[in-house]
Amino acid sequence: MAEALRQSRPLHARPMEMADLDEVLAIEKSAYSFPWSRGIFEDCLRGRYHCRVYQERCEILGYSVHSVALDEAHLLNICVRPEYQSMGHGRKMLRNVMEEARAQGAKTLFLEVRLSNKVARALYHSEGFNEVGQRFNYYPAEEGREDALIFACSLENIWVEEKRDA
Ligand SMILES: CC(C)(COP(=O)(O)OP(=O)(O)OC[C@H]1O[C@@H](n2cnc3c(N)ncnc32)[C@H](O)[C@@H]1OP(=O)(O)O)[C@@H](O)C(=O)NCCC(=O)NCCS
Repeated sequence: MAEALRQSRPLHARPMEMADLDEVLAIEKSAYSFPWSRGIFEDCLRGRYHCRVYQERCEILGYSVHSVALDEAHLLNICVRPEYQSMGHGRKMLRNVMEEARAQGAKTLFLEVRLSNKVARALYHSEGFNEVGQRFNYYPAEEGREDALIFACSLENIWVEEKRDA
């Protein structure tokens, strides 16, 4: 099943709309212990953020939010619906963001990730991200606060075709 999905065609990405927010928020709440609020998504949709949903047939499998300022991009959220995680969708979504940010003029993509988020960290490392810093007590946590690791990836020499459907 997972292997078949890995080899399937790229996910369809389209701009997120206000009408998607009920579905997006349901995924957000099921995927994170400290989910974004509706207001944060609304602000992103109204502001200069690039909000995408990824679909297979009619169902939203995941979404991403990134921003671009001059030659730097920032990935603010990337999330796969829990029942579709570990099937290769997150990697496809991340590659979509990287390609889009590069096309928008960014040379480097930055993101923050919880220290404890081993799955996301493994994904970022395997896509060429390097750890470039740490923000102490950055996130709320079940007990107190948790550090964020800052990752960065140069977009100047990324694949486009050969890794895309890997
Ligand atoms: C993090 C996330 C986006 C990854 O997407 P995904 O579709 O689950 O991951 P993929 O199937 O594309 O796998 C990518 C890599 O992640 C790692 N990974 C995926 N599932 C894993 C698991 N269950 N255990 C350990 N590592 C795992 C592997 O390194 C994998 O590469 P491989 O398949 O070559 O081994 C997704 O799990 C998610 O939405 N999590 C909740 C929200 C979140 O944490 N977002 C990131 C915030 S920084």
